[in-house]
Amino acid sequence: MSTILITGGAGFIGSHVVRLFVNRYPDYRIINLDKLTYAGNLSNLRDIESAPNYRFVRMDICDFDAVLRLMQEEHVTGVIHLAAESHVDRSIKDPFTFARTNVMGTLSLLQAAKVYWESLPERYEGKRFYHISTDEVYGALEMTHPEGIEPPFTTVASSGAHHLAYGTSFFTEDLKYQPHSPYSAAKASSDHFVRAYHDTYGLPTIVTNCSNNYGPYQFPEKLIPLFINNIRHRRPLPVYGRGENVRDWLYVEDHARAIDLIFHRGTIAETYNIGGFNEWKNIDIIRLLIATTDRLLGRPEGADMDLITYVTDRAGHDLRYAIDSRKLQRELGWEPSLQFEEGIERTVRWYLDNQAWMDNVTSGDYQRYYEDMYAHR
Ligand code: NAD
Ligand code: TYD
Repeated sequence: MSTILITGGAGFIGSHVVRLFVNRYPDYRIINLDKLTYAGNLSNLRDIESAPNYRFVRMDICDFDAVLRLMQEEHVTGVIHLAAESHVDRSIKDPFTFARTNVMGTLSLLQAAKVYWESLPERYEGKRFYHISTDEVYGALEMTHPEGIEPPFTTVASSGAHHLAYGTSFFTEDLKYQPHSPYSAAKASSDHFVRAYHDTYGLPTIVTNCSNNYGPYQFPEKLIPLFINNIRHRRPLPVYGRGENVRDWLYVEDHARAIDLIFHRGTIAETYNIGGFNEWKNIDIIRLLIATTDRLLGRPEGADMDLITYVTDRAGHDLRYAIDSRKLQRELGWEPSLQFEEGIERTVRWYLDNQAWMDNVTSGDYQRYYEDMYAHR
């Protein structure tokens, strides 16, 4: 029997991964380890919280002794590590918290896995430590074409599909790390520690670097849920700089499917980049969000375009991210399942239908509830 420790399972991506594993693998025991910071919310997991193969443990990944005890007690055979501080704007204001959780927390988890697995007769056999990282570690890409063609222009993916790109370079797995924000610097550092644990101690590690995710249960400090909520309430939409920055967007359930595939079939010590060849300028997404939200709310289409408010740019704002995910497509056959317009429609609909979730998160009530609940234990 496999016992999988998923860290950060009460957050946005983690909750989708936990749900997928609990439902798809009734024979696995799934332990969700989460500190429940402002970004962790157990109501993301209401539908599976009483499943017989699921257990939630409130714990800080930095607490080495507690993590080691949990691994021993539960006989953990695999780790999927998502717990992190994840918002660039917060990292600019408070870099120490990012270094603590993303670097020291990852180190503590690696060391606990090493100590526990090395104490077993079979050691690392059948074990796996899978670290979830971001494409932001690679830094920013240019938006140029050698022949001076105005972006976006059409390029062809390995699958033969045409897609729009804003530059001719992409993030490949062998690119050197050039992080710019404290968030991406801390994630880059954690990736290095993971690889060092493989190269030095033989820990069976895998790293993946994914592009921007969107979908249900994302904390509304990130662009897409923040703007959907603001459009609904007719609040200003703060567009950083000129809205020209490009991000490569992937529906969160497609990321969770990729994690499942790579956890089971990926090669130890490898890195895989995950992305759907789906580059969008921020301002174009924002217009799409306004049009979709207005339509679903029965408002005249485009009625809320005047909410767009250009504000001071984010410090060190990366210009363009674009993932080359051909290795994952070629070696493991993964493809994203959704077109962006369909994913956005689904996402806007979900936030509009789940206003109680949004109100709860924005009021901070969910945090008080858990503080009370855990204070009595
Ligand atoms: P999130 O902020 O929504 O969730 C993070 C979770 O980690 C929360 O539940 C939080 O309570 C928990 N956590 C934070 N500090 C902790 C600690 N010290 N101990 C235990 N738990 C702690 O983040 P997300 O967007 O779901 O991202 C998950 C992972 O995926 C992160 O590692 C992030 O770097 C990576 N990632 C995110 C994206 C994206 O677009 N969101 C893209 C690529 C990679
Ligand atoms: P975000 O969702 O914070 O993700 P990341 O910084 O990890 O890419 O931001 C996505 C893009 O949207 C990024 O270019 C910054 C921009 N942005 C705004 O213009 N306004 C906002 O209020 C936010 C949160 C982001």
